Amino acid sequence: MKNFINRRSLLKSSLMTISGLALAPHISMGAFAGSSFTVDSRNRLYYSPLLREHFLDERPNVSTMMARLNANENPYGPPESTKKAVMDAVSGGNRYSWKELATLVDKIAKKEGVSPEHIMMGPGSSDLLEKVALVLFMKGGNVVSADPTYMSLIRVAEAVGATWKAIPCKSDWSHDLVEMEKAIDKDTKMVYICNPNNPVGSITAGKDLLDFCSRVSEKVPIFVDEAYLELAEGKGTESMVSLLSKNKNVIIARTFSKIMGMAGLRVGYAVAQPKFLDKIQKITRGGMGISHTSVLGAIASFEDTEFQANTKKMNTECKQYVYDNLTKMNYKYIPSYTNFIIFPIAMNGKDFLTKMTAKGIMVRAFDIQNKSWCRVSMGTMDEMKMFIKALGEVS
Ligand SMILES: Cc1ncc(COP(=O)(O)O)c(C=O)c1O
Repeated sequence: MKNFINRRSLLKSSLMTISGLALAPHISMGAFAGSSFTVDSRNRLYYSPLLREHFLDERPNVSTMMARLNANENPYGPPESTKKAVMDAVSGGNRYSWKELATLVDKIAKKEGVSPEHIMMGPGSSDLLEKVALVLFMKGGNVVSADPTYMSLIRVAEAVGATWKAIPCKSDWSHDLVEMEKAIDKDTKMVYICNPNNPVGSITAGKDLLDFCSRVSEKVPIFVDEAYLELAEGKGTESMVSLLSKNKNVIIARTFSKIMGMAGLRVGYAVAQPKFLDKIQKITRGGMGISHTSVLGAIASFEDTEFQANTKKMNTECKQYVYDNLTKMNYKYIPSYTNFIIFPIAMNGKDFLTKMTAKGIMVRAFDIQNKSWCRVSMGTMDEMKMFIKALGEVS
């Protein structure tokens, strides 16, 4: 029986690459080299009171997999415009990219309706989630968030001495804003909100969240992780970025990994009050971690609105295809505002992963509230057809 998973086995573990609940980024940072995470006898990692993840004992050979639907990546990226920009940028790689980074920041600031001083760049938004957590929780305190949620900021906060106040999601899997507000006490240093939320894919209505952030940010800073927001459709999907012009102490994280198709090229940003960012940037530097090629690639993908619109359209079509087929097979999914869908399965998560991997399909398996769930990322339509076929065969 294996009771602990150490750094080496985490890195070897099949599903620990960039994505989902993001443990690998913490581990590979080095600061957590000595960390060990408790797993149970079934090789499940405990994230929270409500959430556990299943892992295979052996990492599958990714090159033989037919569909990688485990990391919420964009199957269409990077855009052609980005590929060209990256290639053209290589010869400038002997210089630091200050000027080009400033150009990217200007473009982002313009789009978000803020000044460049409101932007902090990072090699992916994970980097910013972690840096904010490192600086803010150095002297302890607590962080309030939903459970289940994306664990990147919370794991780092806990690792440097904070405690986590985990507030269960409501029955529709949205944030329980009333209970979250009640949980704030004199030691609370931040509220973390992931909207749409990973791993459940749900949305917390924009109007309710605007009201919550507007009021509660007078007491503590509120970090709103909007990694999937650009893929969300329908009512209630507004960004919290407008609160910055009202001088509210909110921090909005965005990524180039999803709609812009650049997960492996690593670019993300935070929009926040300059005073808040000064505190983080006094100790850490975000933009310093982004390569010249990625900066130029990001400028291209940022401007490639056609690619973004096409990604969104294809994502919506694939989700509809998966919804329709899950319904036919009697699975009940949580409606998704992201590029992944989660649904309960009538099988142990590890057995499910073993069977799906044998068919060349990589997905994630969780226990949430002691039920088994499959989380599948949207790939291309062909990949989704393979997924549905495999699901029909294994269940
Ligand atoms: C909710 C959420 N936030 C942040 C990230 C981190 O993305 P990246 O570091 O690639 O920008 C992810 C990745 O899957 C995510 O799901």
